[in-house]
Amino acid sequence: MIKQAEQFLEQCYKELGKTEAELRARTEAVTQEIAETGSYTHTYEELEYGAKMAWRNSNRCIGRLFWNRLEVKDQRHLGTEEEVAGALQEHIHEATNGGRIQSTISIFKPKTDDGEVKIWNHQLLRYAGYETDEGIIGDPDSVALTKKALDMGWEGAGTPFDILPHIFHIDDREPVWYDVPEDIILEIPLRHPEYEWFRELNLRWYAVPIISDMRLEIGGVDYTCAPFNGWYMETEIGARNFADDFRYNLLPVVAEKMGLDTNRNSSLWKDRALLELNQAVLYSFQQDGVSLVDHHTAAWQFQVFQRNEHKQNRQVTGDWTWLNPPVSPATTPIFHQSFEDRMDSPNYFYQKCPFS
Ligand code: ARG
Repeated sequence: MIKQAEQFLEQCYKELGKTEAELRARTEAVTQEIAETGSYTHTYEELEYGAKMAWRNSNRCIGRLFWNRLEVKDQRHLGTEEEVAGALQEHIHEATNGGRIQSTISIFKPKTDDGEVKIWNHQLLRYAGYETDEGIIGDPDSVALTKKALDMGWEGAGTPFDILPHIFHIDDREPVWYDVPEDIILEIPLRHPEYEWFRELNLRWYAVPIISDMRLEIGGVDYTCAPFNGWYMETEIGARNFADDFRYNLLPVVAEKMGLDTNRNSSLWKDRALLELNQAVLYSFQQDGVSLVDHHTAAWQFQVFQRNEHKQNRQVTGDWTWLNPPVSPATTPIFHQSFEDRMDSPNYFYQKCPFS
């Protein structure tokens, strides 16, 4: 941990324009704290900048141009279930910001030998998926967590778009669940600029994607509970959540409504349906004044990020397979580049699912 702490402090303090003396003093203090207690406590400044660096180092994220505009909420002092549940709701409310989405991370107490805080949900807002005799209702991606929630006594309405409760545990205590108050959830009913019938599909999606199951690592400290959000790129909803055949699987439904020949691959019905789904997502969010970026603009913003980083003499690492949008990738500059996929620290990591 001492090694990781030293390395982090050096880069962090240099980028923040601190003096050699400040770096030396802080490194000494941290080294001593680790020797005495086995760990150390980040200052707010270190926590804030570390979380931003972690975003900047996220190889799969196309939205990194805005890494320095992250709102960092320090929730390390919270200890009870009630407090954590309240802080998660506060995160949703503040990040939503009436539709002008604010990139936000809430950081709870780090993992220690005494225990850890862990959220079971993949995102703070996510739709349930119910296994029924007629197939899955809702989001197939949520089937396992939905079962857990039902086991714990939660009751879902049974529609395709029921927001799951927050489920989390603190240290070795039993997991708890809390319903998300409806008045803090912003959702967008989907409609299409030309197809009147689109409305009748009764599709909707929530405004803010808040990843809640990843670990934030800063200078050797593991924040196992650190939910964070940006805003959506339209393809995430239109080309994946609604289109994947293992998710809402709506391409056949949309193609049918469009009157396309779904019996021949060469009619390109999948591609045409895909495009209209994405158009509907863009149109609906825009009309409702909710932040969302299209994939062409996002790819352009990523180019600006690359130029900025180059000027700072920092290498941009990346995962080509994730940076490319799932719609028309070759029309963006990303497709024609290559990236080194190296995980620098600080960063966000997957962690073992606490259930199943
Ligand atoms: N792809 C995920 C979803 O559809 C969200 C991942 C984070 N996305 C973001 N724009 N920050 O829910």
